[in-house]
Amino acid sequence: MERTLVIIKPDAVLKGLVLDVKTRYILQEMKLQRSVTRVLDLHTASLLYAEHRGQFFFEGLVLAMVSGPCHVMVLSGRNVICRVREMNGPTRDAPSGTIRGDFPSAGGPFNIVHGSDSPEAVLREIGILFPKLCTDE
Ligand code: RTP
Ligand code: MG
Repeated sequence: MERTLVIIKPDAVLKGLVLDVKTRYILQEMKLQRSVTRVLDLHTASLLYAEHRGQFFFEGLVLAMVSGPCHVMVLSGRNVICRVREMNGPTRDAPSGTIRGDFPSAGGPFNIVHGSDSPEAVLREIGILFPKLCTDE
């Protein structure tokens, strides 16, 4: 069974969308392994998005990620990495029926959800946000 890491970002948490977004995944037969609401610090947010360091949007992205609480989840299920990203929708111009399309946000760094994009990213991101989960298994 595959795992992935999902972050409901601060803009969505502040709008009260956690339950709505979370339910969408669970209704698609994804199992919730861990979930926690927490405010990320600057170091953690920078580590998570390290691949974008140096891009013009990096500072804004990191500041958006620490602007309020995130709801961080580990989901498991068949082909869950790809299925979550399909459900989330593309970064820009997400169509209706996707999470980003149905819960539009301010744009730029604000886009409701993050989902890991590869098995390597899952391990790296779970290592940052749920380190105990990595050493337990
Ligand atoms: P995420 O990592 O958050 O799941 O989003 P993603 O894969 O769809 O997009 P990615 O390319 O990894 O970008 C990460 C986040 O950076 C912000 N961003 N802003 N041109 C811009 O203004 C720009 N490009 C990216 C978005 O918040 C995006 O989710
Ligand atoms: Mg990404």
